[in-house]
Amino acid sequence: MINILGIETSCDETAASIVQDGRTIKSNVVYSQMDIHKEYGGVVPEIASRKHVEVIKEVVEKALQEAGMKPEELDGIAVTEGPGLVGPLLVGLSFAKAFSYALGKPLYGVNHLDGHICANFLAFEDLEPPFLALIVSGGHSHFYEVLGYGEYKALGGTRDDALGEAFDKVARLLSLPYPGGPNLERLAESGEVKYEFPMSMLEDDSLDFSFSGVKSAIRNFMQKEKITEEEFPHVAASFQSNVINVVSEKIRRALKQTGHKKLIIAGGVASNKALRRRLDEMEMEVYYPPIHLCTDNAAMIASAGFFAHNRGKTASLELNAKPQHGGLST
Ligand code: KG4
Ligand code: ZN
Repeated sequence: MINILGIETSCDETAASIVQDGRTIKSNVVYSQMDIHKEYGGVVPEIASRKHVEVIKEVVEKALQEAGMKPEELDGIAVTEGPGLVGPLLVGLSFAKAFSYALGKPLYGVNHLDGHICANFLAFEDLEPPFLALIVSGGHSHFYEVLGYGEYKALGGTRDDALGEAFDKVARLLSLPYPGGPNLERLAESGEVKYEFPMSMLEDDSLDFSFSGVKSAIRNFMQKEKITEEEFPHVAASFQSNVINVVSEKIRRALKQTGHKKLIIAGGVASNKALRRRLDEMEMEVYYPPIHLCTDNAAMIASAGFFAHNRGKTASLELNAKPQHGGLST
């Protein structure tokens, strides 16, 4: 049995987890800084870095304790190398490198997006590639063909705002506090789909996404029509319905173009219940992780680390932060 310690610090969660054989969570500790960043309306990178430094040792100790393991019993250490905020990433990387060196255990650098996809392997023990994957997070809206464990073919992605970013920006227009996505979802529950905004489908065969248009359309509409607070739930519901329509249509296209019948979704926005309901109604086999594994966590990083281990993809101590880490590849 292979036990990998995962460390994730790419944004505002300090997280550590131990996962066995890429599938079984032995411990999963997430320290969220959300309350600290809330008053600024978003994540402040410098504050996030400092907080990661303060708590990372404790978070890793807790992960070991909850798994009932000693550091020497670990088989390797996986850490997010990017994409993400450079300061926060460096905290996790420095800790992981030092721990790996001190213990003499292999180090694995994990692409955060690879982690999000692997969250599904934790949730569904029989799930195996190949399948189609859609990552919808704060920074990405991306389709991949998952050909094997850790083997990806990029199909299409964000041209401007990612889906989570669009949720966050529209939430701000509706005076909702950070984090925008879940708050907008809650507000939409009490609204009706009353307004129509342009649906950005791009070219006929395109699997790219563009969500900045709908955000601008909503901003202009609210200014022009002098939309007041009573209408906010309807604006939220109309926005959410618009983007869910776009996403489901793009999924239909992607399945048709690739011939896949199985889809997994991953990333923060995959926790949106209205999106999940719509996907459940579509004709396909669909998987999404439970909410605590959709948003940032280290179990997904440990899982991806296990598959890197299986492929012999160890990292050296030269491993550095890749804030703009591009798409996944084979
Ligand atoms: O994957 P994640 O935790 O971090 C990144 O890797 O970016 O995703 C965060 C994003 C944020 O934009 C957040 O507003 C969005 O996911 N999000 C949601 C929901 N929960 C989180 N968006 C819509 N509905 C939700 N329930
Ligand atoms: Zn993420």
